Amino acid sequence: MPQSERESASALADLAELIRGRRSTNLFESRPVARQLILDAIEVARWAPNHRLTEPWRFYVIGPQTADELMLLAAEIEAEQKGEKARAARLARLRGVPGFIVLTVTRSGDALRQTEDYAACCCAAQNMMLYLWQAGVGVKWTTGDIVRDARFYRALGADPLAEQVVGFFWYGYPRIVAPPRRKDVQEIVAELP
Ligand SMILES: Cc1cc2nc3c(=O)[nH]c(=O)nc-3n(C[C@H](O)[C@H](O)[C@H](O)COP(=O)(O)O)c2cc1C
Repeated sequence: MPQSERESASALADLAELIRGRRSTNLFESRPVARQLILDAIEVARWAPNHRLTEPWRFYVIGPQTADELMLLAAEIEAEQKGEKARAARLARLRGVPGFIVLTVTRSGDALRQTEDYAACCCAAQNMMLYLWQAGVGVKWTTGDIVRDARFYRALGADPLAEQVVGFFWYGYPRIVAPPRRKDVQEIVAELP
């Protein structure tokens, strides 16, 4: 095999390994992630495909003050739903997460465009997570009740009529990487003549 082909085969294998190896991260080390790395990941994320170049994504890089507000809100929602006893555990859990990003999609009056814009944002989210994974940083994409709460939008300074939350991303250096789980690929492929 010529050297250029060998190099590209190895680059392809590395890319496949990156994609396969990324795991949602639940438990994080306490060391912080550099703000610049997060900004770099977002710069790369936005090169995702997006129909009609709508660039429908908005990224909120959460600083410590807003993080505190969001954590208290998450604990408040937990207490509202499960009772006062649940508050402290929720807060402790979130205090163990080094950083947060919120991704929203701009709302459109057109249902098809909205679907496509959401799809584009999901592509951007994956770009962001892969970039960070390559840098050793794990992410968990979350969509719990908090992301549909008016107070969440208020904390972000986002207008819920103009944007919709796609994900509340938790990030940090992973403490544990969960084992991978996927169906056998034959179960999800139909090869047609
Ligand atoms: C749209 C979307 C929403 C998700 N919401 C949550 C969530 O609220 N909580 C959670 O623990 N994981 C959430 N996840 C992560 C999935 O549970 C995770 O991707 C799945 O278990 C596969 O694991 P992997 O990412 O390690 O391959 C979400 C993923 C997507 C794409």
